[in-house]
Amino acid sequence: MLSSTRFASLCFLVFLLCVGGVLSSSAPPTKIGKGYSLISIEETSDGAILGHLQLKQKSKIYGPDIPHLQLFVKHETEDRLRVHITDAEKQRWEVPYNLLPREQPPKLKQTIGRSRKNPITVSEFSGSELVFSYTTDPFSFAVKRKSNGQTLFNSSSDQSCPFGQMVFKDQYLEISTKLPKDASLYGLGENTQPHGIKLYPNDPYTLYTTDVSAINLNTDLYGSHPVYMDLRNVDGEANAHGVLLLNSNGMDVFYKSTSLTYKIIGGVFDFYFFAGPAPLAVVDQYTAFVGRPAPMPYWSLGFHQCRWGYHNLSVVEDVVENYKKAKIPLDVIWNDDDHMDGHKDFTLNPNAYPRSKLLAFLEKIHSIGMKYIVIIDPGIAVNSSYGVYQRGMANDVFIKYEGEPFLAQVWPGAVYFPDFLNPKTVSWWGDEVRRFHELVPVDGLWIDMNEASNFCSGLCKLPKGKCPTGTGPGWVCCLECKNITKTRWDDPPYKINASGLQVPIGFKTIATSAYHYDGVLEYDAHSLYGFSQSIATHKALQGLEGKRPFILSRSTFVGSGKYAAHWTGDNKGTWEDLKYSISTMLNFGIFGVPMVGSDICGFYPAPTEELCNRWIEVGAFYPFSRDHANYYSPRQELYQWESVAESARNALGMRYKLLPYLYTLNYEAHISGAPIARPLFFSFPNYTESYGLSTQFLLGSSVMVSPVLEQGKTEVKALFPPGSWYSLFDLTQSIVSKGGQYVTLDAPLHVVNVHLYQNTILPMQQGGLISKEARMTPFSLIVSFPAGANEGQAKGNLFLDDDELPEMKLGNGYSTYVDFYATVSQGAVKVWSQVQESKFALNKGWIIEKITVLGLGGSAKSSTLEVDGNPVNDASKIEFSSSEQKNLNGLVVENKQKS
Ligand code: NOJ
Repeated sequence: MLSSTRFASLCFLVFLLCVGGVLSSSAPPTKIGKGYSLISIEETSDGAILGHLQLKQKSKIYGPDIPHLQLFVKHETEDRLRVHITDAEKQRWEVPYNLLPREQPPKLKQTIGRSRKNPITVSEFSGSELVFSYTTDPFSFAVKRKSNGQTLFNSSSDQSCPFGQMVFKDQYLEISTKLPKDASLYGLGENTQPHGIKLYPNDPYTLYTTDVSAINLNTDLYGSHPVYMDLRNVDGEANAHGVLLLNSNGMDVFYKSTSLTYKIIGGVFDFYFFAGPAPLAVVDQYTAFVGRPAPMPYWSLGFHQCRWGYHNLSVVEDVVENYKKAKIPLDVIWNDDDHMDGHKDFTLNPNAYPRSKLLAFLEKIHSIGMKYIVIIDPGIAVNSSYGVYQRGMANDVFIKYEGEPFLAQVWPGAVYFPDFLNPKTVSWWGDEVRRFHELVPVDGLWIDMNEASNFCSGLCKLPKGKCPTGTGPGWVCCLECKNITKTRWDDPPYKINASGLQVPIGFKTIATSAYHYDGVLEYDAHSLYGFSQSIATHKALQGLEGKRPFILSRSTFVGSGKYAAHWTGDNKGTWEDLKYSISTMLNFGIFGVPMVGSDICGFYPAPTEELCNRWIEVGAFYPFSRDHANYYSPRQELYQWESVAESARNALGMRYKLLPYLYTLNYEAHISGAPIARPLFFSFPNYTESYGLSTQFLLGSSVMVSPVLEQGKTEVKALFPPGSWYSLFDLTQSIVSKGGQYVTLDAPLHVVNVHLYQNTILPMQQGGLISKEARMTPFSLIVSFPAGANEGQAKGNLFLDDDELPEMKLGNGYSTYVDFYATVSQGAVKVWSQVQESKFALNKGWIIEKITVLGLGGSAKSSTLEVDGNPVNDASKIEFSSSEQKNLNGLVVENKQKS
């Protein structure tokens, strides 16, 4: 039998094949109207500029024009420029300022006469690095980089790049920018990109949160992130910048090699330009604005096991036991909706998951540091004997249609959707989470189906009989559908390429003429649903026990990373999907959602043994590492095949040794947005060969994963950017890449290649089967100098804290930060540390038992190393006896040249 989502996806595929010929993925540039002219522009008292634009000529296509627009431009920081354009006469929908806090542009100018009195008084508007300029008739604007004069964005059309003038209608906005041919663009998701991480000219990019499975290529998926990074290399020097269009309405973005066009069905133009110029700086500036990624608890970096169809608690207990027997690390066990009573949120099935037994199980796993997470869907079952529903009705928390809660169908049958834009809903939700937590002390929540996904389209009424519930063919809409009165919100004049098929935008979701709190239309707020649910859930969990929340959300929007982790949804157990998982993961790092991963071994239908081997070798290095499978898939826990178990012990064994490094990356992500998993160009931005590379990735700046992604292969051809690289699995193996080169590496079934770059100090621990115990083992440091070095330096760092605390920061008495330094100079090696807030680490008793120094040249290698004045024979391998072990504070290890 097929699962709902799988069946739906197959139908989509068939349909796609049938209509593929008639839908064009890259519509020609539309030329609608003659644009606007700028009739006034002046500086405001707080250093912004305000302008007034007037429509040049009405056009009939896509509905009525907005005749007068207000332009607001501000250098908000040294590296962030905002360009905001909206109706000058009437308030329009924008991403709510309380969901994504930012400055409100000044109140709209009411009189056109005033503009006439204040004509053009500003010619160019310059910040520290970004410069805003414009043309007046027709109006267009450009953003330039001051330091090298490069134009980053330019909305003026000319013969070399013919696109239409800016369009601003009630339900249709269009603007384009020219791009140089050699710009490399990344971002614009969520989608599965068959051509890899670099945006591919003429591939469609539609942004509208949608429950179509991730196996659909180039279509709108679960999240909406209208942001891209643009990397340009001129004469060997790279500069990156970011462009965010903060708009939650559905949009198509057409990328051609020399232009990019946005076609949006509502809202305003609210552009933010981030100057970079390094890729890491772009993400830093971006997340400083949209919200820094949520700190993740230590255990969440361990391995997670889930599946849909753990029919009762004994099965779950068995899974945990089998992981232990197979000696495969496991930190977190999950339940999909199997624990629920009739698929109802916040309930327990009394027969399959009796509470007393579940509590005993949780006590057992909690005592060894393991954690438990369950799913929550947003749809609340319409059932008058169900407390969550009763309280929701009493508090009036649901999205409405014609004055009544909007009726939809999901797993429990008929449901209403909570309106998370309503403050009352947020309190009610917090209360439900608290009640549930009292029933079952879960350690995190998984919020699924929050695009929002509905098995019916349009307007429904309750059927006479009972709606089928659950996981079977019941997904077919059973509610009787009334004919929907098609408003302009249900059937807008411009059709985005929804689901890759131009289906109506209300297809399998909430009708877009339904409305939220304060009259907000679903049409406008649709793509904010999962985001607003993440915020409410975060608030709810944070209020409990005061612990750091862990939330996994399927649907995301700009700023979601501040509240939640993400997995890439329903993928397939195929070699292609294994490959795609890397690009999607890397894109989410750019989106400011660094805690991300894909269903390891694939969600459906059934991976081969070989694929599952290779998938855990990749998945062990996803920031979020979870095996999950569909209801109808055969079991695919890692111990199900002995060969997969062996690969898992190997790859996850390495992950668990790297946990201190991953946790430090989690801290860096939280304070600077730096992605945990990064494309190679983040560390090697000048090295153009790495720009499109989507088959390898970095963890942090220096650990490179080069997995096998093809069936039957026992070798992998991997790109090594210039420098020395050391195999983490076998420190005696190194690759010295002169100008950057591809190297064919051995990769038999149980081998995944992971290399450490030169000039790094990598803190590792001994590993273990649960992160809690792995965390207390002694540290070792790997110091990597360029091969043959007699001169050089290396650096590394380590963040340690009490991961139960909601905040992750220094200075609270529960954290320590260590900088490690090493130099080799004239053959003498020195390794030392500088520690901030040492008390926490000292109290915990962490020690360093070993330092391995890689890459030393002849004289350095044969030099005598002294530890506290006692000679050590081999400078490349320093092991401390138990009486000599160093704590992290005040480490000084120095060697002296033999005299
Ligand atoms: C859809 C999710 O994407 C999937 O991971 C989950 O197993 C099913 N819903 C059932 O809850």
